Amino acid sequence: MTSAFVLKGQTLSFVDNPFIVGPESAVKHHVDGAVLIEDGIIQAVAPADKIITQAFEGQVLDYGDCLITAGFVDCHTHYSQFPIIASYGERLLDWLKRYVFPIERKFNDKIYARSVADFFLMECLRHGITTSSVYATTHKESVDAFFEASSHLGLRMACGKIMMDQNAPSMLCDNVDDSYHDSKELLEKWHGISRNIYAITPRFAPTSSPEQLEAASSLWREYPDVLLQSHLAETEEELIWVAELFPDIQDYFGVYQKFDLVGPGSIFGHGIYLSEREKNALHDSSSSLAHCPASNMFLGSGLFDLLDLKNRDNPITIGLATDIAGGPSLSMFATMRMAYETCQLQGGTLHPACAWYLATIGSAKAMRLESIVGNLMPGMEADITVTDLKSTPLIKQRVAQASNFWDVIFIQIILADDRATCATYSGGNCKFNKYEDI
Ligand code: GUN
Ligand code: ZN
Repeated sequence: MTSAFVLKGQTLSFVDNPFIVGPESAVKHHVDGAVLIEDGIIQAVAPADKIITQAFEGQVLDYGDCLITAGFVDCHTHYSQFPIIASYGERLLDWLKRYVFPIERKFNDKIYARSVADFFLMECLRHGITTSSVYATTHKESVDAFFEASSHLGLRMACGKIMMDQNAPSMLCDNVDDSYHDSKELLEKWHGISRNIYAITPRFAPTSSPEQLEAASSLWREYPDVLLQSHLAETEEELIWVAELFPDIQDYFGVYQKFDLVGPGSIFGHGIYLSEREKNALHDSSSSLAHCPASNMFLGSGLFDLLDLKNRDNPITIGLATDIAGGPSLSMFATMRMAYETCQLQGGTLHPACAWYLATIGSAKAMRLESIVGNLMPGMEADITVTDLKSTPLIKQRVAQASNFWDVIFIQIILADDRATCATYSGGNCKFNKYEDI
């Protein structure tokens, strides 16, 4: 009796970076493909007849002509903002005051936080997302609740307590000592337990005193394996505020550099308004950016210059992110579509292979996880999503006219939503199945 089993369908893996080598050389696509999984790990990805031989005794789950890919990776999101998704009419700083801070106050209640975390994670799975880098709130309870929920499901998730000691409602502020000790306690409790990863999370430069940024930096030096996440250069108004708060520092990224909060494993959300110096410094420090196109559009923040940042001589590691609830959708299809539209608005374009790469490997790289998730490759964790390529009548009739595989993928990016997710596997276990409640 073997525990090995097979997913059968079309498979898509990346063998290289499509931004560098172009889409055709970057991927391996098997029309009649199969993925062999054992003990939660991908053992092989190959044409089905190479894997499902007469000698194979395990279970075969046949997904017909559905597309089997790595689960999506969302490298910047806020689970605590899920309850206020689609809130009307404000730009970033007013939106934070009017909608975000009031809801975040509720996350000192662990039972409430757990109910939101459970719902959020099930919705991620329903959208084919298997890994995320998540902001909790300033409350320890919010992090415990999130990691308890992710451990229960066995997901590979990163999360951290927001550090915030100024320029926010006092009910939500911590202080330098508590933020350091609470973050350290949570990190020691959760990092590496189940499949959890801790992310040190100073919210953004305006809501942390220099002393708190220093404390975040000390903690990261003590635990260099964890992630560090924050926001960077999302709106022009915020840039002015940062310049007022840190008059001696040349620019926004410079603040994070000054406090040693940059480097591999640091993920900065947005990065719309960056100088040449900041772009070079992001590259030179191996820091990464989370591109949040739906949020940038929804909050009216601006246009992220993806093509400049990817195609320059010193490109920056970039992942794709929903930024719930700045972004109003957990759909990575919608997020890829808006990344495409953002490029269109700036006179460029985004090939579907590049969009899919950002939503999987790009985000996994930003989280330093590219050797274990984000691709369909032997040796990687079996975190997988299965996409129905004909999930609505409109998509079906459009796909019927497609002349090649990339047309089919582009149609998904533009037209598909959560109805397209047939199944999502995490660590080799089916955690969402459209056709039955698991
Ligand atoms: N900048 C600081 N906090 C936030 C947040 O919660 N969401 C977004 N989009 N930007 C921020
Ligand atoms: Zn954010």
